[in-house]
Amino acid sequence: MGKCYIAGLLICALVVMNVAQVHGDTNVTITFLDSAISKGAVCLDGSAPAYSYVEGFGNGSHSWIVYLVGGGWCSQISECRDRSSSRLGSSHLMGSQTTFSGILDSNCTFNPDFCNWHKVFIYYCDGSSFMSNIEQIDPKINLTFRGARIFNVMMDEMLAKGMRNAQNAILTGTSAGGLATILHCDKFRKLFSDAIRVKCISDSGFFMHGEGHHGYENRENFFANVIKTHKLANSLSPACTSKRNSSLCFFPEYLVEDIQTPLFMLESAFDRFQLTSLVLGITNCTTYLTRCNSTELGIMRDFRSTFIKTLEQRVHNSSNRGMFVHSCYLHDHVLKSDEWTCLAIANRTMRQAVADWYFDRSSFREIDTKNDSPRNCTNKFCQ
Ligand SMILES: *[C@@H]1O[C@H](CO)[C@@H](O)[C@H](O)[C@H]1NC(C)=O
Ligand SMILES: *[C@@H]1O[C@H](CO)[C@@H](O)[C@H](O)[C@H]1NC(C)=O
Ligand SMILES: *[C@@H]1O[C@H](CO)[C@@H](O)[C@H](O)[C@H]1NC(C)=O
Ligand SMILES: *[C@@H]1O[C@H](CO)[C@@H](O)[C@H](O)[C@H]1NC(C)=O
Ligand SMILES: *[C@@H]1O[C@H](CO)[C@@H](O)[C@H](O)[C@H]1NC(C)=O
Ligand SMILES: *[C@@H]1O[C@H](CO)[C@@H](O)[C@H](O)[C@H]1NC(C)=O
Ligand SMILES: *[C@@H]1O[C@H](CO)[C@@H](O)[C@H](O)[C@H]1NC(C)=O
Ligand SMILES: *[C@@H]1O[C@H](CO)[C@@H](O)[C@H](O)[C@H]1NC(C)=O
Ligand SMILES: *[C@@H]1O[C@H](CO)[C@@H](O)[C@H](O)[C@H]1NC(C)=O
Ligand SMILES: *[C@@H]1O[C@H](CO)[C@@H](O)[C@H](O)[C@H]1NC(C)=O
Repeated sequence: MGKCYIAGLLICALVVMNVAQVHGDTNVTITFLDSAISKGAVCLDGSAPAYSYVEGFGNGSHSWIVYLVGGGWCSQISECRDRSSSRLGSSHLMGSQTTFSGILDSNCTFNPDFCNWHKVFIYYCDGSSFMSNIEQIDPKINLTFRGARIFNVMMDEMLAKGMRNAQNAILTGTSAGGLATILHCDKFRKLFSDAIRVKCISDSGFFMHGEGHHGYENRENFFANVIKTHKLANSLSPACTSKRNSSLCFFPEYLVEDIQTPLFMLESAFDRFQLTSLVLGITNCTTYLTRCNSTELGIMRDFRSTFIKTLEQRVHNSSNRGMFVHSCYLHDHVLKSDEWTCLAIANRTMRQAVADWYFDRSSFREIDTKNDSPRNCTNKFCQ
């Protein structure tokens, strides 16, 4: 985890953990994209960016799913320096393989709609949700801020591997990768012709500003510092920056209304990462829900009701938008086999809800409005 506290906030690198081999999970070898180095599309430490890939087959051979993994952000140069000597800033330190599970599972029993698609897992090593693009390398700092270039070379690589012939495509990602999905969704869409079905699925990427609510100044300062440190002001959505201070333009509540591409939000209204890192901090309460006192529970409930209100206001009520908002105290879903396969709202599992929406079988905009306290779900949704 390393150094985590910034301005009293905990911003730990939350990465999707390898899950035990339930279902048909397979481990996929990492590929280093060495050709990206000459284009300056490199990790914080200057190393090559990396991905893992599984080829599609059968009627999935013209369908592509691109997954962006999470891992927080660095908001200060010192944090970026620390990050550059971890797997979140250097491909030299990434593992040799990663587990493809949940939406990336190749077993059609568990993942019938997407099992045979081409699947791409893109590693995260820029600390800016794939947004940075600073040409100069300050010799005193000696870090490369090139997340946007990494995104671009990865897309070029996949187009060359066959994604240019795709009939179906999905951009998805979790946490900082779920935010990257929102930030890059329309850009991804433009890689394909209008006739192609292209949609985005953001998993745990709706990081809320929640102006006026507990901890909002800290959230505001944190993302303002990310934007400043990575010099992102000119890369942000003009639709957002024309309406408000650009330092607020990492908050999805100010972005989603202007996104043209169909977008699905998979969220917990009691998002564990947000409540821990951006609202309450690491406390007995955020570690063990049974130890929350009434004040803390009140803050969590206020977070939830603001979160739901914000989603309802900002996420259009149209089939172009999907929403699955539950009450389990969790963060990150699509690679978690049990959650993907069995966590349900309104009788539809996450997998069914996403697939029905993606294939236009039906819309899905469901919020668990029954549970107004965070639920300690055991992650064993399939029992
Ligand atoms: C995948 O890797 C994980 C951790 O490295 C390991 O526990 C698991 O057994 C591996 N699974 C397969 C199918 O090889
Ligand atoms: C692919 O084939 C499976 C099994 O025959 C079917 O259920 C699925 O709908 C097909 N998918 C597409 C995109 O045609
Ligand atoms: C998928 O999982 C089921 C249940 O574990 C197993 O019986 C089947 O052989 C698996 N299929 C593939 C293609 O691995
Ligand atoms: C800067 O970083 C690069 C890439 O890691 C390294 O090769 C080089 O030696 C570093 N330069 C200085 C002056 O530290
Ligand atoms: C925009 O926000 C930043 C960071 O919070 C602040 O320093 C700056 O003064 C604001 N700019 C304007 C024009 O309000
Ligand atoms: C957390 O719980 C432990 C054990 O019950 C207690 O000693 C400690 O003071 C608590 N910490 C806070 C911040 O309440
Ligand atoms: C949830 O319940 C399990 C089992 O009782 C417990 O070990 C875990 O600490 C609880 N988690 C939280 C966040 O309270
Ligand atoms: C609840 O816990 C927090 C943090 O441990 C503490 O600051 C606060 O005073 C407590 N509130 C009540 C009503 O006990
Ligand atoms: C969304 O719009 C439909 C039809 O206009 C309406 O029936 C439904 O209640 C709306 N849902 C929400 C959450 O506003
Ligand atoms: C969910 O499905 C079960 C079993 O099929 C059914 O009994 C129940 O009425 C359904 N609930 C809702 C809310 O549709």
